[in-house]
Amino acid sequence: MRTVVLENANEAVRALKAGELVALPTETVYGLAGLGLEPEVLAKIFAAKDRPTFDPLILHIARPGQISQLASEVPHDARRLVDNFWPGPLTLVLPKKPHVPDLATAGLGTVAVRCPRHPLMRQVIEKVGSPLAAPSANLFGRLSPTSAEHVVEQLEGRIPYVLDGGACEVGVESTIVGFLPDGVYLLRPGGLPTELIERMIGPLKRPTASGTASGTGSEGGQSAPGQLPQHYAPVTPIVVIDGWHQLLPGDGVLTLKSVPEGHGGPVIQLSAKGNLKEAASRFFEALHELDRAGVPRIAAVRFPEQGLGLALNDRLLRAAATHSK
Ligand code: TXA
Ligand code: MG
Repeated sequence: MRTVVLENANEAVRALKAGELVALPTETVYGLAGLGLEPEVLAKIFAAKDRPTFDPLILHIARPGQISQLASEVPHDARRLVDNFWPGPLTLVLPKKPHVPDLATAGLGTVAVRCPRHPLMRQVIEKVGSPLAAPSANLFGRLSPTSAEHVVEQLEGRIPYVLDGGACEVGVESTIVGFLPDGVYLLRPGGLPTELIERMIGPLKRPTASGTASGTGSEGGQSAPGQLPQHYAPVTPIVVIDGWHQLLPGDGVLTLKSVPEGHGGPVIQLSAKGNLKEAASRFFEALHELDRAGVPRIAAVRFPEQGLGLALNDRLLRAAATHSK
């Protein structure tokens, strides 16, 4: 199978309706989409990504009101998040309706739902007329794609289509908030800054190493299998550094703003102004580029622990954990 790059959303709609997979642009990263309520289609998504079936998928809807098609209950605070931040880079984990297939939720009693903001993605979901499951369109555990070229690099020959919608505006995956029996959890920091959410509904719990107290996942109480460390990794070993004294000659450097003097290897500065939004939009592209540069090691300077910096540090630390084992 060759992977065909589509320019026309209607061709994507036709393929999806026929039960085929299409990688689609969203404002966060490209997603590998298929009919979200059809178990045979969901099985194809797991196979194309080499993704274990204990890692559940996000179901994407075209309009916020469609949440009640998938969630059996929308608590008051979840409703406030929907009203204020959808469409956008926020995913909510809520109790699921019985018709949502087990394969989408990994057998959990909850379903992850997101209403994305990208106009092409919304148009496609609307025309298909059903929620679309869409994990990031990368191989399991590898760097997330923020362009159609990234998708083709990893999934060429494994999927029939990718719809080219240009570069993703936000650049990191959605923030995931879980409404679980024992509280409201930040399951993954992401493209919607955590502070904005906490300002609206109060402090979020953080899962501990063993998961959430109410976690029922198959991975030792892991209710957000996105917590697995081996996510978002380039092939090149990566370390997170806090100062230039930790740099080795020849390192490929990823930095927000400050630049090392007289360093021999490639250096990517994500934002000359130190703007985290700009940095996030270029983050995966920069990692892809350093991964291709043939350096022995990538040294990434830790981001400020605020706003989108939380999501960027999370992705860096998971990538680094893969290589320290
Ligand atoms: O921005 C995004 O969220 C992108 C775009 C394509 O929408 N999608 C994405 O999907 O990042 P994926 O599959 O790469 O990450 C989804 C995460 C997984 O780590 C999964 O474990 C978690 O969501 N998840 C899904 N359903 C869940 C549930 N019921 N409970 C807890 N975590 C869940
Ligand atoms: Mg992913």
